[in-house]
Amino acid sequence: MLYRQLGRTGWKVSEISFGAWGIGSAWGKVDDRESLAALHRALDLGVNLIDTADVYGMGHSERLIARLKKERRETIYVTTKAGRRLSPHTADGYNRENLTRFIEDSLRNLETDCLDLVQLHCPAPEVYYRPEVFGVLDDLAKAGKIRYYGVSVEKVEEALKAIEFPGVQTIQIIFNMFRVRPAELFFPEAQRRQVGILARVPLASGMLAGKMSRESVFAADDHRNFNRHGEIFDVGETFSGVDFETALAAVEQLRALVPPGATLAQLALRWILMFDAVTCAIPGAKRPSQVEENARASDLPLLSGAQMGKVREVYDTRIRKLVHQRW
Ligand SMILES: NC(=O)c1ccc[n+]([C@@H]2O[C@H](COP(=O)([O-])OP(=O)(O)OC[C@H]3O[C@@H](n4cnc5c(N)ncnc54)[C@H](OP(=O)(O)O)[C@@H]3O)[C@@H](O)[C@H]2O)c1
Repeated sequence: MLYRQLGRTGWKVSEISFGAWGIGSAWGKVDDRESLAALHRALDLGVNLIDTADVYGMGHSERLIARLKKERRETIYVTTKAGRRLSPHTADGYNRENLTRFIEDSLRNLETDCLDLVQLHCPAPEVYYRPEVFGVLDDLAKAGKIRYYGVSVEKVEEALKAIEFPGVQTIQIIFNMFRVRPAELFFPEAQRRQVGILARVPLASGMLAGKMSRESVFAADDHRNFNRHGEIFDVGETFSGVDFETALAAVEQLRALVPPGATLAQLALRWILMFDAVTCAIPGAKRPSQVEENARASDLPLLSGAQMGKVREVYDTRIRKLVHQRW
């Protein structure tokens, strides 16, 4: 496992880290023993950052991580999120009282006195025009409740706006072979400001692992079933906003580019790591075997210019028109 500096935090984090949404909720049935085994395996393989949120299983994901931390001695950086428990989810909800309450809940769930890093959880765009929200986060940092903060965003423009706030240490954004626009304007600007980047949904919700087919069925409580058309949250969070049929056809083309001895999931993760601006990819995983496959992407040789060009060709011909200007 290789490590990269996370912005200005001074932390060196594993370039393949762990996304803990799936072990909390919205991804069908999960077994806590299996989830904990996956987390342990990740640490065994050098993963030292786990991304979660208060809303993943309403604290369940955070509580599993607290259990893990009790069972291990290594330094583990936990990046959590706040805001998505608001109902309705509005900019007005991102106020001092609510943010303080959310952070107190995460502190309890994670069984700690100070959160490593809290991200606003894809807030409404209006939040970026309310410096007082970021002022509340500064105050929570001064009070020792949080060490650092960042923002998880849906769109490139939100990312660019968010990093204007000097206290923002990280941006979490969808970046994968189906979502390349962040690399154009946002990455250079984030690098200039030394802002860390967590590349989320790196496997396009598992699609880029290449194991899906027209016959794939998802449980009723899996967002790949209930949010296929953006029914509950942003459609971009499910298969990166690419319709299932188009995604399957693109995957068939990408499969031809997998280096010998590697898998499509590893190619997808290696592709993300080719961008220096990215601090880490945070693939979700529910089982130790997935963690193992994903962690090995860090050991893969660099992709050649020709390989990068071919991935780009698949994006340009099949995916671009569906996503490029939308996020
Ligand atoms: N708004 C936000 O801030 C937000 C939104 C989304 C995600 N996130 C964060 O980003 C993380 C990653 O995104 P994500 O979990 O949505 O999507 P992802 O990482 O693209 O896909 C994860 C899913 O892919 C499958 N998978 C993983 N590794 C695999 C492998 N090697 N082979 C086959 N299948 C594999 C697993 O599901 P199956 O085994 O069921 O197929 C897994 O749950 C989340 O866990 C969360 O921490 C944040």
